[in-house]
Formats: sequence, C-alpha cells, structure tokens
Amino acid sequence: MTRETPETPEIPAPSAHRSGPPAPSLPPSPSSPPSASLSPAVVFDPESGLGSREVALRAAGPGEVEIEVRAAGVCHSDLHIVTGDWPTDRPLVLGHEAAGVVTGVGAGVASVRPGDHVVLSWFAPCRRCRKCVAGAAWLCTGTKAVGNTLPDGGTPFTDAQGGAVWPYLGLGAFTNRLVVPETAAVKVPEELPFGIGALLGCSITTGIGAVMNTARVRPGESAVVIGTGGVGLSVVMGLRLVGADPVVAVDLSLERLAVAERFGATHTLDGAGTDVAAWCREELGGADFAFEAIGSPAVIETLPAMLTPGGAAVLVGMAPSGATGSFDLFDLADQGKRILGCNYGSSIGEIDIPKLARLYLAGRLPLDDLIGATRPLSEARAAFEDLRSNTGVRTVLEP
Ligand SMILES: NC(=O)c1ccc[n+]([C@@H]2O[C@H](COP(=O)([O-])OP(=O)(O)OC[C@H]3O[C@@H](n4cnc5c(N)ncnc54)[C@H](O)[C@@H]3O)[C@@H](O)[C@H]2O)c1
Ligand SMILES: [Zn+2]
Ligand SMILES: [Zn+2]
Repeated sequence: MTRETPETPEIPAPSAHRSGPPAPSLPPSPSSPPSASLSPAVVFDPESGLGSREVALRAAGPGEVEIEVRAAGVCHSDLHIVTGDWPTDRPLVLGHEAAGVVTGVGAGVASVRPGDHVVLSWFAPCRRCRKCVAGAAWLCTGTKAVGNTLPDGGTPFTDAQGGAVWPYLGLGAFTNRLVVPETAAVKVPEELPFGIGALLGCSITTGIGAVMNTARVRPGESAVVIGTGGVGLSVVMGLRLVGADPVVAVDLSLERLAVAERFGATHTLDGAGTDVAAWCREELGGADFAFEAIGSPAVIETLPAMLTPGGAAVLVGMAPSGATGSFDLFDLADQGKRILGCNYGSSIGEIDIPKLARLYLAGRLPLDDLIGATRPLSEARAAFEDLRSNTGVRTVLEP
C-alpha cells in the first residue's frame, strides 16, 4: 500500500518539469528479493510533490553494502529537488548527507564489514574512469550517482505496489535502511557522533574541501564567503583552519552571521544592504578568494568584481539546471581573475572524510555548532521549513 501522509503538504510540486536523465530500463531489484518489511521514507514524486511513502529494500548484491541510517542532514541540494530547480522525472527517496552502521555486505566487499560506522558519499566514484585513475574522484565520469541510480542503473527501493522509487544521488538517506555501492560507504571512527558524520557526508566536506582542495587557500590570504548556511559556514571554518585573514561572511540572516563569527569570520556583512564588491575593493583592495555558497546566478555574477587581480571566485553553490550568467570578460582576462568550479569540495571521500573526522575528534573543528535541530524522520516537513526559513543552522533527521 502506498501511503501519502499529510507529511509536508504545503510544499508544492514544482509547476513545470523538464525531463531529467532518462529513466533506466533495468528492473529495480536485479539481484535479491525485497525484504518483507516496509519502512517510511521521505519521497519527492514529480506528480504529487513531497510526502512520506513506505518502501521495501532489497538486500545488498555483489559490491554493495547495506546500511542502517542513524542521522541524515537536510541540505539545500535536497531542497533544489523539492522546488524544481533540478527537475526529476521519477520518484526519489531524498537525503544524501548521512551516516550509519553497516548491517550487511555483498560478495567482494573488502573495505567495510557489519558493525562498521560509515559516512555516505553522494558521489560514489567508479574507480575505473580516467579521472578516478588520475586521483580526481570528485570529477568521476563513470558514477551513476548523479543520475539517481546505483552503479547497475537500478534502485534498491520499491514501494508497496512494487513500483520503483529511486535513490537521490545514489543514496536516498531519508529512510531507515539503504543499499549503496562500496565506494559510497566510508569507514569512520566509532567515537564520531552520527550527526557530525552525517554532515561530513556533504556540507562540511564540500565547504572545507572548497578551501583546502579547490582553492588551496594559504595563511594570510583574504576571503569573502557569500551565503552562510551549512555549506558556507563550513567554508568559513575551513578558512580559519588554514589561517586565512581577513574572512568576510555575507548573508541575509543576522543569526547566520552571528554563527559565522563564532566559526572564524573576522567581518560580517548584511547582504541585503551592502554593495559587497565595493566593500571588498575599498576595505581589502579586493579579496584573494570569493566563495559563493548559495547557488544564486545573480550573486555569482558579482563575484569577479570582489577580487584582487589574480584572485579566484569559487562556485560552491549549485545554480538551477540550465542557469547562465555573464561576467566582464575584459576584466577577467586583463586582471588574471579565475573562476573555479567546485564539486564536493574537490574531495576524495576515503581520504578527506576520515581526515576531517580526525580533525573534529582532535578538537580542531567546532562541528557541533553546525547542528541546529535534531528531529525524527516524521518531522521532515518541519526540517525543510527550517532550511527554507534559515532557522537554526543544519537540521539533522534521525530515523
Ligand atoms: N558544490 C557542491 O558539491 C555542493 C555540495 C552541497 C551543497 N551545494 C550547494 O550549496 C548551496 C548552499 O547549500 P546549503 O545547504 O548551505 O544552503 P542553505 O540554504 O543552508 O544556505 C544558503 C544561505 O544563503 C543565504 N542567502 C540566500 N540568498 C542570499 C543573498 N542574496 N546574499 C547573501 N546570502 C544569501 C541564506 O540566508 C542561507 O543562509 C546550495 O546551492 C547547494 O545545492 C553544493
Ligand atoms: Zn548536500
Ligand atoms: Zn570514475
């Protein structure tokens, strides 16, 4: 039985749906029968919008890992699906920022075993393409995760009628249990709290990676961060970690700016009432780095004007599909300014996630302060509202 509960009724389905990647023709359950039990999952359906649905999970096949989800953060990349910024043509179990415990492994799995604590990677690399072989897993061209399937093109989830429900970014973490490829399950120390582990799965690794890997900021270099949600605050934390100075945080929410100060921002600016580019030129002579962590084309277009000659704009926020922007092209070339794309903080999950976990456990990163509310999965509606209204910092769901 498919059950559409009153969960999140006020979040409407997007009004128009361009087709996403074509739906795979493979059957949803290629290797193992679904387990008899159904679990509630937070599902976005392009027909009916956001709701709760009971789903069954098949067992882990070769190269796959079954995980019990213990915590899952609500990231703006989930909201981009709900708002229609990133259209989907099929129902998705949302949730891609999560941590849990391994409950089963399929044939050939060597890196984790039952009982291990893991952080989930939403960009499970194929380990075979040229980018993976060259050590740039964040650029993998063979991953199927971005098409919202497992590597075989299928899904481990079915609804009560046997219909396929697809795993957002190859995970689908807003439910109790899931099955992922081995490369999506990164072992972490057992003393790491699951809520912190969840955020290491996306916002923290993306934000700190943007500083350390994408931009390679050095001590004493200046940076401005526009948008201080879960991702932008992680950028601020990363900037303090590497010794950047000054660090200027910009947001529309004064509450967020207060948190940014605690995380290491030396200056905060209200984005609604400030010409940030003019401020950067007058006060800094231009910033060495300008990080955008919103996904707003209008804000992204303003980044180059914030930079000192040779400076770099780092695009961390993800714009709606198909969005374009314009820049002063003479200024870019004449002043040697650079624009850097940033997927997943240019991170390698197996290396960067345990590294950041160790830094947290050593007291070098105040990650506890990133977690705002912790809510049960049944309060997903309220958690999305927290995100839309900038309430608290990051809301974590616990199944
Ligand atoms: N590059 C990646 O791999 C990657 C990974 C995760 C998330 N993202 C993207 O990063 C973006 C941010 O994600 P998040 O979860 O931190 O979102 P969030 O909603 O928690 O934070 C966004 C912040 O931007 C602020 N903001 C909005 N408009 C603004 C404006 N005009 N000026 C200043 N501030 C403004 C909001 O007040 C909010 O604090 C999203 O687009 C998300 O999809 C990218
Ligand atoms: Zn995310
Ligand atoms: Zn690859």
